[in-house]
Amino acid sequence: MVFPPQFLDELRARIGLADLIGRRVKLTRKGREHIGLCPFHNERSPSFSVSEEKGFFHCFGCGAHGDIIGFVMRTENLSFPEAVQRLADEAGVPVPEMTPEERQTAQRQASLLQVMEEACVYFEQSLKSPAGHAGLRYLKERGLDDATIANFRLGFAPDNRSGIKTKLMGETITEAQLIEGGLLIKPDDPSRRNQSSYDRFRGRVTFPITDRRGRVIAFGARTLGDNQPKYLNSPDTPLFHKGQVLYGLANAWPASRDENRVVVAEGYMDVIALVRAGIKAAVAPLGTALTESQITLLWRMTPEPVLCFDGDNAGVRAANRAAERALPMLKPGHSLRFVTLPTGEDPDTLIESQGVGAMEALLQDARALDRVIWDMETADQTFDSPERLAGLEYRLEQRARAIADDKVQFQYLDAFRGRVRDLKYQSRQAKFGGPNAQNRRGRPLPKQRGGFGNQRYDPTPAMPPVPLPAPEALIRRHEQGLLAALINHWALMDEFAETLGTLDFFDPDLDKLRQEILLLYGSTPDLDSDAVYTHLQEAGFAAQMQAILAPDALTHAGFARAEAESAAVRLGIAEMVDGLREQGWRAELVEAERAYAENPTEENWSRLQECMVTAHHQNQINREKDYPDSVTGSAPQKRRAKAVVKSPPKR
Ligand code: UTP
Ligand code: MN
Repeated sequence: MVFPPQFLDELRARIGLADLIGRRVKLTRKGREHIGLCPFHNERSPSFSVSEEKGFFHCFGCGAHGDIIGFVMRTENLSFPEAVQRLADEAGVPVPEMTPEERQTAQRQASLLQVMEEACVYFEQSLKSPAGHAGLRYLKERGLDDATIANFRLGFAPDNRSGIKTKLMGETITEAQLIEGGLLIKPDDPSRRNQSSYDRFRGRVTFPITDRRGRVIAFGARTLGDNQPKYLNSPDTPLFHKGQVLYGLANAWPASRDENRVVVAEGYMDVIALVRAGIKAAVAPLGTALTESQITLLWRMTPEPVLCFDGDNAGVRAANRAAERALPMLKPGHSLRFVTLPTGEDPDTLIESQGVGAMEALLQDARALDRVIWDMETADQTFDSPERLAGLEYRLEQRARAIADDKVQFQYLDAFRGRVRDLKYQSRQAKFGGPNAQNRRGRPLPKQRGGFGNQRYDPTPAMPPVPLPAPEALIRRHEQGLLAALINHWALMDEFAETLGTLDFFDPDLDKLRQEILLLYGSTPDLDSDAVYTHLQEAGFAAQMQAILAPDALTHAGFARAEAESAAVRLGIAEMVDGLREQGWRAELVEAERAYAENPTEENWSRLQECMVTAHHQNQINREKDYPDSVTGSAPQKRRAKAVVKSPPKR
């Protein structure tokens, strides 16, 4: 039902957020907000904050967030309209009238709920009656005791075409309602139109499916033998939408707060076995792949629900499907974890044969979602060539791009790149390296585990993902060439002094020389080259001068020689400057990525984004420089950089 926004605003204005929350949570004032221990997850130090001003609560620990209505929905397990009603009662304001259609829908649903409840009672009673003897025996054989049967309200639908029909149809419950609730089947095939309706569930044990508050909305029903289908479920009805419900939700919801987790199994019997074994926060989808609504429901209980799948092929496929479905929905702190059971086992049989300890151990060992994606893309493959590694990198990147949230996507890209790199070094080590092989940054290589076929990655920190700055020697050569050219062609300082002032040299000694040159130019701009040499030598740079001006130092920098033509010198200087700038932003990008990966704060994030924007810009400039005609569509033609010094990039 739809409430007028003014009405909701009035409710919010009348009921103070801090007042309302303060009844459940001990709040202390801190500046403009109140803080306390979060009621939605277990914690020892307060990360739950309430802002009366903004009208919102927010937990920095578990991400719970909402206004007064959200708070009541969460703490009292109510739907939105129910929470509104509760708050309106409290504030003493009448809820605006529903439209006639709305009232009719609400009434129909309320009475249908009543019908489902009566059906549940009927099935429960049948299980205890002589007609339910076979059903009771079946459940007992599967190890269920009376308490469990009562707790889950298990029942039996007698093998009778008009069991529920004769029992429930009468003054208060109509045939139409029984059909609408999915309890009777009315043949809609025209040739059978005159046939009467009959019981949907016959000769089966029944498992009531409830909504979040425990109200029965549908049934699952299992055959006692090998008949197909093994389980028959209610069709979708006005109360029941299969993809939006989880079996066991009503009990799992409060239990998830105590246990700080939720376990998702595949079947009814698994949920029952888990709960009996003490894993109370257990749910199952209803025989279909996990839907988006179900993932959303799970995330409202816990940030990282654990999904259990059989180890057979179908189970692996189901796990992969769930991972794919969740990827676009991921948000910071929220994910799924995956348990693979031994082939042919489900939680029910595992607990039965090996005890709950074995189940807990598997839950502890659950794979993270990124690992599932990695395993999906690497299973049964070897990555011993650049092409295969590139293929893998490409596929992983495509996967990561499915993630809508920027920050999560970034972390996935980062993690995948790092792992591909590790894989590369492992494969290279296997081919060429010895036991003490190191990667190029001098870190020992990750230990190799088994073959590459079922590559399980090592969760050691990943290598930086962006292209590394050029080797130090190359950067130094650029710096040397640039200084040599300016010393030999002092007149060009008029043109390049300003640019030289904006560059930070990587080599500390060369940077001192750079500064000395700038000082010298600042004080006496008009000198001949001999005077420049003399001055710099006397200033203590004799050794550096020797190193950069010696003929063999200039073999790579012909443009810097004293006898070079000034056009070539200009061009050379401009290239050195561009090269050094590029190394500068690359190094910064690497540094920003590292900082964010280590410490994912807002600040580091915006710094990283700035660096990425710069990098993007620079790449574009480089592309245009290399292919100046590509915009007009003529054949790309590689050109040398023009001797133009661009203004320094904004930092
Ligand atoms: P499973 O075939 O794994 O059955 O189906 P199970 O739960 O282990 O059943 P038991 O232990 O033999 O009793 C898993 C879930 O898939 C749905 C049901 O929700 C079931 O719990 N299902 C299965 C159906 O809806 N229809 C079927 O025919 C089979
Ligand atoms: Mn089973």
